[in-house]
Amino acid sequence: MKMIDLILKKRSGKALSPAEIHWFIQGYTNRIIPDYQVSALMMAIYFKGMTNGETLELVKAMIASGDVVDLSHIAGIKVDKHSTGGVGDKTSIVLGPMVAACGVPLAKLSGRGLGHTGGTLDKLESFSGFHVELDMETFVRNVANIGIAIASQTANLVPADKRLYSLRDVTGTVENHSLIAGSIMSKKLASGADAIVLDVKTGSGAFMQNTEDAFELARAMVEIGVNLGRRCVAVVTDMEQPLGKAIGNASEVKEAIASLKGEGPADLMEICMELGAQILVLSDVAKDTVVAKQKLQTVIESGKALEKLKELVAAQGGDPSEVDNPDKLPGAVHRRVLLADKDGYVQRLEAIKVGKASMQLGAGRATKASRIDPGAGILLHKKAGVLTNKGDVLAELFTNDDDRLNIATETLRDAYTIGEKIPETRPLIHGLVAP
Ligand code: URA
Repeated sequence: MKMIDLILKKRSGKALSPAEIHWFIQGYTNRIIPDYQVSALMMAIYFKGMTNGETLELVKAMIASGDVVDLSHIAGIKVDKHSTGGVGDKTSIVLGPMVAACGVPLAKLSGRGLGHTGGTLDKLESFSGFHVELDMETFVRNVANIGIAIASQTANLVPADKRLYSLRDVTGTVENHSLIAGSIMSKKLASGADAIVLDVKTGSGAFMQNTEDAFELARAMVEIGVNLGRRCVAVVTDMEQPLGKAIGNASEVKEAIASLKGEGPADLMEICMELGAQILVLSDVAKDTVVAKQKLQTVIESGKALEKLKELVAAQGGDPSEVDNPDKLPGAVHRRVLLADKDGYVQRLEAIKVGKASMQLGAGRATKASRIDPGAGILLHKKAGVLTNKGDVLAELFTNDDDRLNIATETLRDAYTIGEKIPETRPLIHGLVAP
């Protein structure tokens, strides 16, 4: 085969054959096909799209490019949960222990945060000593022994995606639903779970800002999961404003701990309950979402979910006493408050700008090489829809580098729109996509 023929075929809008898709993925992973030709093919795919059949072959070829995690000897339906990313999204740290405490093994391989979105791994590393780089044997053993492991993807898990995603990132070819769905689902399917619950975010802080796009991506991913033999559903949830009140690594962990004690913010708990209920139903632990939500509530009230977080922290080398004493988690020496400059309702609190302010405080990575300040972050006192008076505290900003405060405060100020009219509320859960 010749790469030029594949480029011309796709450029003219024709579907690539399974053999052609497997050939180019293998050739690119093995560095036989050069970047410039794969860039051209990605651009042709960006404009001409892929059929569902082509997307499925792409996923299969990407999975075959590396290792696949084998969880088959662990009893029960093993689940994985994936979020397309947002601001203040500490759902996995709450939900993982909740479902594991209900008897559902959760095996989650994650990436790190980049730009305005935070990553679960960075958040968990706020616990002193916590390891996210587990070898596969330890990862699988922890899922078998305590019912939960959250670790980073190994170098050889879908190596084709590592190369392709970096290339798409610099060639303007990320935003194609087949390529995004293929990229996410190949990693989820290679991670070995039997059931996958996807949290597809929509709104200003989400990858898919438009709700219709979010549903389309959700449908594409669920179809891939089901066609490749997994139980799979997606919930499209709102990311117009941040989730919960805390943004930043250690402060999000503190909010996750409070949530497992039954003291979580209402929006975060609603999302955790909905995703958790879907997980319990998919894994046959509950007959419907009503029963599932009761079970999830019970493990919070009994303290079992909080105990499970301590087991997770201990099993990955962290200090579980920090779960009992969250004040031992990293903090920040510099604090500033953002005050409302007029009376009115918070019309909008744009998640993307809050995420950017948090990054400017040191809580996120501007580039892959940036170092994170685990104590940096933001605590939101007022969110969209709330009435505020001039001089009220809208939010607090924290950092260990006071040079960062001025710019972050201005970005955060810009995230708020205050006005007279009562704003319309957006739904937190936009809908479910099931096969
Ligand atoms: N996240 C991924 O893992 N892949 C994409 O293509 C887009 C977002």
